Amino acid sequence: QFLRSAALAAGLCAVFTGPAVAQNLVLKAGHAASTSNTGHKAFEFLGQELAEKTDGRIVVEIFPSSQLGSERELVESIQLGNVDMTFVSSAVLGSFNPQFFALDIPFMFKDRDGVYRVLDGEIGQDLLSSLEQVGIKGLGYWENGFRQLTNNKQEIRSPEDLEGMRMRTMENAVHIEAWREVGANPAPLAFGELFTALQQGTFDAQEGPINLFYDMRFHEVQDYISLTNHVYSPWPVLINPDVYSRLSDEDKIILEEAITKTTEYQRDLAQKADEAAIAAMPDITITELTPEEIEAFASHMDPVYEMVEERVGSEIIDAILTEV
Ligand code: PAF
Repeated sequence: QFLRSAALAAGLCAVFTGPAVAQNLVLKAGHAASTSNTGHKAFEFLGQELAEKTDGRIVVEIFPSSQLGSERELVESIQLGNVDMTFVSSAVLGSFNPQFFALDIPFMFKDRDGVYRVLDGEIGQDLLSSLEQVGIKGLGYWENGFRQLTNNKQEIRSPEDLEGMRMRTMENAVHIEAWREVGANPAPLAFGELFTALQQGTFDAQEGPINLFYDMRFHEVQDYISLTNHVYSPWPVLINPDVYSRLSDEDKIILEEAITKTTEYQRDLAQKADEAAIAAMPDITITELTPEEIEAFASHMDPVYEMVEERVGSEIIDAILTEV
């Protein structure tokens, strides 16, 4: 009874003293990239923006480099409420909501304009909303970027050059199938284990955005990059739905505006980081492929379209193809 009265008194006190007693909300944010990466900088930018707009009531505490788990584990932790926010490659979300596999078909996206039309338009926004069915609230899309093919054996210009190479992929069935179609020997591995696996020769090849390649110092263990631009990886920004719904209407708006501002900042940063990474690795062989050479890879993708269509239907695939 005493405790109950004390709690009631505290509650009344909170009502009377208003915002002065408002508690800090510390958003625990995890991600798999390094601290020098643009995604980490985006969380820092978001944190500053939120702290400024809420007079320090909302702050972001960042846990980089898979400290809170692999990307799959981070998504599970968002569902469970052990982590409040994250960004992960959309490729991981296909196992939570198959609709996301529609973004994984290689060689669909030609340039960033097409990508942004899809992500920022109805298709991308519907995909984010569809995450609510699996206990996740999607806030927007940051940029992991166009993915390139790298290896430590030889220059790759054609599927024949890739024949049999042991290749690390993300945990995504569509990507695995695509690399099989062009003759590689693909297997998934969590990103946090990749450097050592490349160093020890467990894998010959990997694929990913070039700025991440540079940040992770993969150039110490890989000698060749082929600029294939085969897949564009968005970074959906995710929040635990309970944390989101507990925000006041005003704070929801502050968060949404801060995400929009951070998205502009981060996408620009990511694009510049790709350009800077190319310039910063003079000792690596970086190969630009001709449109015909790209087509030699893309022409193997029919079974991949079929696989995705079986899982998500043709409507979303056709809708993406009309935007890109
Ligand atoms: O390659 C991956 O697993 C992802 O691109 C990464 C680096 C974890 C970022 O989302």
